[in-house]
Amino acid sequence: MIPYYEDEWVALYHGDFRDVLPALGVTADLLIADPPYGETSLSWDSWPAGWPTALRPFGKSLWCFGSMRMFLDRRDEFTGWRMSQDVVWEKHNGSGFAADRFKRVHEHALHWYRTDAAWSEIHHQTPTTGDETARQVRRKTRPPHTGNVNTSAYESHDGGPRLMRSVIYSRSMHGRAINETEKPVALLDPLIGYGCPPGGLVVDPFAGSASTLVAARQAGRRAIGVELRESQCEAAAERLSHMPLELAT
Ligand SMILES: C[S@@+](CC[C@H](N)C(=O)[O-])C[C@H]1O[C@@H](n2cnc3c(N)ncnc32)[C@H](O)[C@@H]1O
Repeated sequence: MIPYYEDEWVALYHGDFRDVLPALGVTADLLIADPPYGETSLSWDSWPAGWPTALRPFGKSLWCFGSMRMFLDRRDEFTGWRMSQDVVWEKHNGSGFAADRFKRVHEHALHWYRTDAAWSEIHHQTPTTGDETARQVRRKTRPPHTGNVNTSAYESHDGGPRLMRSVIYSRSMHGRAINETEKPVALLDPLIGYGCPPGGLVVDPFAGSASTLVAARQAGRRAIGVELRESQCEAAAERLSHMPLELAT
């Protein structure tokens, strides 16, 4: 199978991921899926039925973008996946369609792992802020309502690293995007750092603008993306070929 774009870190394939991934026979350290949510009547916004099951053979760990409505409506399709946590992407502008509700300035990314895998098998790098020298951090006592969580409790020490917050602010790509729902590299970076070891392989079945591939490459991870629309592949390949490879670490 010939990639639409390829360099030493990433490859982009044109087609339906349900055809491309079996043909490649890949196993990802981390899957990142940003499916069409199927919430509008726009021609590209069509939910590929059964995709969470179709993606299951290709990795055990999955970040999936979506809205709360999408995850509730589609919850049965995530059979075979167990949710580990949710992260909120806070944007600078809104994407809501209703004029009589709160202005919606966020989306979710849920982390799932396969039900046939133990959590200990899933690569997860404790997400810390990396600013441990910048401020004092107090050792915290656990609040009583958390019960007996000693085995997984994270203890921060004075001056030590703090856990990253689960709400990640990043400007949306509004006005500079090449995909209708393009995700910023700054948002993808911590998700990739969390779920994929350095040098590991990220697979994105709904590659769109190739933001995942750009973020993976910059973070020193390999990546494979699949995109159904040729016009998107063309724009993504253009983007990938103009980003200097020296950015990869
Ligand atoms: C929500 S967008 C992804 C945006 C992407 N995360 C980005 O940052 O640019 C979903 C993409 O999946 C593509 N798509 C839909 N069904 C697909 C399929 N079965 N296989 C591969 N790509 C598909 C659509 O053409 C669309 O570009």
